[in-house]
Amino acid sequence: MKIAIGSDHAGFAYKEEIKLFLNRNHHEYIDFGTKTIDSTDYPLYAIKVGQAVSNKDADLGILICGTGIGMSIAANKVKGIRAAACQTAVCAQATREHNNANVLCVGSRTNTMDEVLELVELFITTPYSNGERHQKRVELIKKYEEEQK
Ligand code: RB5
Repeated sequence: MKIAIGSDHAGFAYKEEIKLFLNRNHHEYIDFGTKTIDSTDYPLYAIKVGQAVSNKDADLGILICGTGIGMSIAANKVKGIRAAACQTAVCAQATREHNNANVLCVGSRTNTMDEVLELVELFITTPYSNGERHQKRVELIKKYEEEQK
């Protein structure tokens, strides 16, 4: 599995830990920054990670900011991206199973590092359930997206 990963300053320390976790679990990653704890703007990284997933340069994306919310708002502007801001294991699992989410957004101010690593593991290891009702709903989102200019 190849993962596109990015964070702003608020998520930088978590990003570095998640990279170690990915290494331990033999996943490849592409790090789109940020590279320091200097204040920066989360949409820059959300859009880069979203594009990498949308272009199939990566299988899934992970984004970290203070809450995960800004990252999810920005990443969802990229065509083909279904980014989910998750704070609980139930959400991280269900968004793969039901929504076929392709980007996980988490917050360094809302969850501990251990909690975030659990969310990452669930997100990466849970398959899309691909049932008829879930696919119909994902297709409705895709149809709307394709109708836009
Ligand atoms: C940065 O202070 C913070 O606004 C950002 O990391 C994020 O939480 C936005 O959603």
